[in-house]
Amino acid sequence: MKKHFTILIFFLITFTIIAQQQYDAKINELIGKMTLKEKIGQMTQGVPWAKNLEEGIREGHFGSLLNAGDIDTKMKYQKLAVEESRLGIPLLFGRDVIHGYRTVMPLPLALGATWNPELVENTCRVAAYEASQQGIHWTFAPMMDITRDPRWGRIVESPSEDPYLASQMAVAMVKGFQGDKLSDKYSMAACAKHYVGYGASEAGRDYNTTLIPETELRNVYLAPFKAAVKAGVATIMSGFNDLNGVPASGNIHTIRNILKNEWGFDGFVVSDWKSIDQMVEHGFAKDDKQAAEKAVKAGVDMEMAGTSYLENLERLVEEGKISVSEIDDAVRRILKIKFELGLFDNPFRELEGEKAILTDENKEVAREAARESFVLLKNEGILPLKENYKRIAVIGPMADSGEDQIGTWTPDGKGEEAITPLTSLKNFYGNKIKYVKALDNSRDTNKDFDEAIETASNSDIVLLFLGEDAILSGEAHCRTYLNLPGSQSELIRQIEKTGKPIVLIIMAGRPLTFSEEAGLADAVIYAWHPGTMGGPAIVDILSGKFSPSGRLPVTFPRTVGQIPIYYNHRNTGRPAPKDVQASIPLGTPANPIDYFSYYLDAPNTPAYPFGFGLSYTEFEYDDLKLSADTMEVDGSITISVKVKNVGDYDAQEVVQLYVRDLYGSITRPVKELKGFKKIFLKSGEEKIVTFTLKASDLAFYNSENKWVIEPGEFKLWVGPNSSEGLETEFEIK
Ligand code: GLC
Repeated sequence: MKKHFTILIFFLITFTIIAQQQYDAKINELIGKMTLKEKIGQMTQGVPWAKNLEEGIREGHFGSLLNAGDIDTKMKYQKLAVEESRLGIPLLFGRDVIHGYRTVMPLPLALGATWNPELVENTCRVAAYEASQQGIHWTFAPMMDITRDPRWGRIVESPSEDPYLASQMAVAMVKGFQGDKLSDKYSMAACAKHYVGYGASEAGRDYNTTLIPETELRNVYLAPFKAAVKAGVATIMSGFNDLNGVPASGNIHTIRNILKNEWGFDGFVVSDWKSIDQMVEHGFAKDDKQAAEKAVKAGVDMEMAGTSYLENLERLVEEGKISVSEIDDAVRRILKIKFELGLFDNPFRELEGEKAILTDENKEVAREAARESFVLLKNEGILPLKENYKRIAVIGPMADSGEDQIGTWTPDGKGEEAITPLTSLKNFYGNKIKYVKALDNSRDTNKDFDEAIETASNSDIVLLFLGEDAILSGEAHCRTYLNLPGSQSELIRQIEKTGKPIVLIIMAGRPLTFSEEAGLADAVIYAWHPGTMGGPAIVDILSGKFSPSGRLPVTFPRTVGQIPIYYNHRNTGRPAPKDVQASIPLGTPANPIDYFSYYLDAPNTPAYPFGFGLSYTEFEYDDLKLSADTMEVDGSITISVKVKNVGDYDAQEVVQLYVRDLYGSITRPVKELKGFKKIFLKSGEEKIVTFTLKASDLAFYNSENKWVIEPGEFKLWVGPNSSEGLETEFEIK
């Protein structure tokens, strides 16, 4: 059997190499025929409103189109390219299919909260199925920008603050979008973005400067991109941000040196929307021409939406500032992806169109993903809802807002196709439900809550749906306060006075700060913006059909003042004793003995830590064992722990493995996630969960940019989140 498997692998690898070489020959032959103008055309992604678009397609001035309209429109453009341009090179159609196409999945941040890569891969598979059947070849996803700043609107698109979890999610998404082969009917090319460091935008303000030391860049921000490249991502998008004084879309170090030379990335790099032109605004280029020159030198192969390449590269080649071989390298990469997508063999793929949209199977995946993304933050014994409730008040602006429920970056999603919590609650609980919106939207400052208070007073329990409108998160939508907008806080204060139990369900695109409101509620569920099937999913959880299993993929601050706050921070030379908050009554004399790294007005700890989430049941961890307490630099150890469901509900648990490198040639984080397993345990069931930890899993880039494994002592934890767990230690000899 093993022999046959080996032979199969050998033939598969051989076949792939042959296919690759087959493309190489065709690509070289094609490039040999192309004029410089046609080559530059391949490096240009046009927009539907470009002037003389159809003429430009016939002239070979566009290699790709962004948001090219419906199937008929795309087919019209493709016919122009294939049948009327000189060389008939097919167009590549790109679009932002970020978290679902028409069956909208939970936000990418919410997908991170599932801690379930296989499920996340399925959500992208569904997205690729629906989108590819509308003639879309290429999605500008997954975004994998690590960020530690919920003020930044685009945290909504990030899978996690942690490089390990973000990498696992990035790989799952790439595999989901791209399938086994790009030429498969339901596959589309993925795009790892925004390369690199965008999530470190200063002050959480979008497009702002990013200053990231090389070790942090390599150990944190580049990690998911490296994983995506290893997983075969077809394209990468260069970002808007100024990275250490060199804009990401003109950065030779990150693109040419690291991505293409060091990692051997052989797909192509597309700029973000006019991020090449914007290097003039950055003050990194004198004009569009110099911006184009710097972008090509950096290794940006295709320009999105701008025309700096189209208008300047020919002259730059004539002036000898850009070589034909640099142009050819970009074109070769672009043609390679077009060949791998099968566009040359079959530019007019037969398409299923609307038949692929919102199928029951697609919606079931969306429902499962939404369910597994919900994070139970508090539950004082009132969830799941008791069967004997006769009157359930449903209150708040987020209970019945399809448009908000599908969240940001849903250009093809339709709010009216979303099944809202109110709809599902009515379907499940019938006329027990009494609904009062109370506020028009999350920013409504109205304070007339009489109807809401009366309904709450006459109920057995209140389901309060608060949060932030979808439009408050996403690109260019940053906030300096993270409280519940409008008069939502006043609403919960008024309802709490009725004395009725409150289940607070928060729907938002980022971590918010809501300690007061959580204190007024008896249970809190963070539901993000859960997508098309958010309603049925929340009923699955509230009714107890499923236990919540989401875990936070990012740290939740108590206050904006704590930001940036993240679990894998460094220790400092004066770490504050755990949970100590400075208390300095008036008149206290200055006392150096109390000089720690802490605040006078808040604890250091977050409102909710990375990896946190409750369940309807309880899990007990026991018998943490290591196969050895030392390993060589080329060795590994096995970690095992017994996990038991000691509660009354069957449920999933995310068993998390963390380590700490106690000292190194650079300071190391106080904790690093190095493994997790999402397991299902029936009530009373126990399992032995094992992890293998290789010494190479503990490697990092040191201050000489060398990828090193340093002998030394380590702590290790296995537990339910980043702030608790069974502890032991080991050593690398
Ligand atoms: C936007 C975003 C990028 C997106 C692109 C195309 O500005 O930064 O994430 O894919 O433009 O819409």
